[in-house]
Amino acid sequence: MEIEIVNHNLIKERLTVLRDSETPNSIFRQNLHDLSVFLVYEALRNVDLEKKLVKTPLVETEGWTLECAPLLVPIVRAGLGMLDGALSILPNSDVCFLGARRDEETFQPEIYMNTIPNELDGCGVIVLDPMLATGGSLLHALQLIKDSGAGRIVAISVLAAPQGLETIAASGIDGKLFVGYVDEGLNKSAFILPGLGDAGDRQFGQIT
Ligand code: PRP
Repeated sequence: MEIEIVNHNLIKERLTVLRDSETPNSIFRQNLHDLSVFLVYEALRNVDLEKKLVKTPLVETEGWTLECAPLLVPIVRAGLGMLDGALSILPNSDVCFLGARRDEETFQPEIYMNTIPNELDGCGVIVLDPMLATGGSLLHALQLIKDSGAGRIVAISVLAAPQGLETIAASGIDGKLFVGYVDEGLNKSAFILPGLGDAGDRQFGQIT
């Protein structure tokens, strides 16, 4: 899988707000929304278009429309906070949900919800998850989506650890991962350092 680190000062600025332990959940969600808009916009830079005639108030001219709106797949919970931002750019996209929870000892993802159909018939997919730590959750999601017959697969993470990037790069899955920022590494509990804590808890609280 190809990886692009999106280098943009507004990403650094919004990420700093997410990192701050004093940031309340509401502001955290707003800044994650903004980051999602920036990253999805960047991920769609070379999206497939088809030609379309358009009448301006003066003449008819050639324009473009999206060939096919990709399916959005937020990884619940944390990826939910990226969905509105993605939908603001892709208002015609369908949405499927994948619920994944990391086991605290093995760090392996446990899938507790999956609304992705078995046959995606070549449909493009954008996977949304703000955090890429060991890479286990995203790898599982990408494999499942690939096995469902997806077309072009794109994944978007706000913050990644080098270990997670290595896992995804070596996955053998055809597609591209866009990342907002790469941190130093993981602690013993496989949390990203310096990180921003648990992106699910920071948005929705600690009652799970
Ligand atoms: C977090 C995060 C990712 C995953 C990353 O979710 O949102 O989905 O862990 O870790 P990994 O790369 O090591 O798999 P978590 O399991 O905490 O669930 P949550 O979103 O409900 O908080």
